[in-house]
Amino acid sequence: MTDNNGKAEFPCLEVQGISKRFGGIQALDDASLTVFPREIVGLVGANGAGKSTLVNILAGVTRADEGLVLVDNAPVEINDPIDARRLGIEIVYQNLALIETLDISSNIHLGRELVQRPRLFQWLNESNMQAQARELLSGIGLDLNPKLRVRNLSGGQRQAVALARAIFFQAKIVLLDEPTAALGIAETQATLEIIEQFRDHGLGVMVVSHNLEDIFRITDRIVVMRAGRVVGVRTTAETTSAEIVNLITMGAAEETI
Ligand SMILES: Nc1ncnc2c1ncn2[C@@H]1O[C@H](COP(=O)(O)OP(=O)(O)OP(=O)(O)O)[C@@H](O)[C@H]1O
Ligand SMILES: [Mg+2]
Repeated sequence: MTDNNGKAEFPCLEVQGISKRFGGIQALDDASLTVFPREIVGLVGANGAGKSTLVNILAGVTRADEGLVLVDNAPVEINDPIDARRLGIEIVYQNLALIETLDISSNIHLGRELVQRPRLFQWLNESNMQAQARELLSGIGLDLNPKLRVRNLSGGQRQAVALARAIFFQAKIVLLDEPTAALGIAETQATLEIIEQFRDHGLGVMVVSHNLEDIFRITDRIVVMRAGRVVGVRTTAETTSAEIVNLITMGAAEETI
C-alpha cells in the first residue's frame, strides 16, 4: 500500500530501542529508526557513534542486548547472517563486494551456500546457474554473457551484477557501510548510481557514510547518531549540511564545555 506520494505505508525495516554494550562502552543506546521501501536513508555520525554496530546487528554479526527489529512490520530474530539473508537483508560492505576474478554468474550466486542445504547446492550445476544469471540480467535490461569475469566489466555492468544479486536473493533491504570510503571518483560515482538503482527497484536502502556530499546527493532521509543514540532524523530536502554537522558534533561540543 502506498500513500499519495507513492511512498509505502509501512517500513520494510524498523529498529526499535536497540541497545548494545561492549564491556564499558555503550555502543548503542535505545536507537530507533525506520527505512521504507523505495527509500534511501543515510546513517551519519562521528567515529564511534554506533553506526557499524547497528549494521552488524541487522546483518546478524552482532547480537543486540535489547530492542526489536521488524521486517515488513513483523518482529524478527536475527541470530546470524543466514537469518539476515532469509529475511531479505542484503549487506554490501565495500566496492559492491564483487569478486573481480570470478565470472558474473559466480558473483551473483556467491553466498548461496549460506541459504541452501549443501546437498541441494550440489544439484545446482553450473549451466543452471548461468541460465539463471542470464535471465536475471536480461530482467534488468542487460544482455551480458554470465561467463564474463567481473574484472573485465565496466562500472555500469558491475552495478547490474550487484543489482542482479540483490534481486536473486530477493532482498528487501540493502545495508551499505561506507561503500565509497576507499574508492576513486569514477568508482564512487558508479557506486552511488547503483545505490539509487536499488531504491528505484523498490528496495529500502540504508547507507553509512562520512561523506555528507554523497549523503545529500542520494538520500531521502538522514538519521544522525551520536554516542549510540539517534539524535536527529531529517528529510534530506528539508535540511542543510550545516544542520547535520551540528547534530553530529553537538555532543562533542557539549562535552568540551
Ligand atoms: N567488537 C567490539 N568490541 C568492543 N567495542 C566495540 C566493538 N565494536 C564496536 N565497539 C565500540 O563501540 C562504539 C561504536 O562503534 P562503531 O563501530 O559502531 O562506530 P561507527 O559509528 O561505525 O564509527 P566509524 O565511523 O568510526 O566507523 C565504539 O566506541 C567502538 O569502539
Ligand atoms: Mg563504522
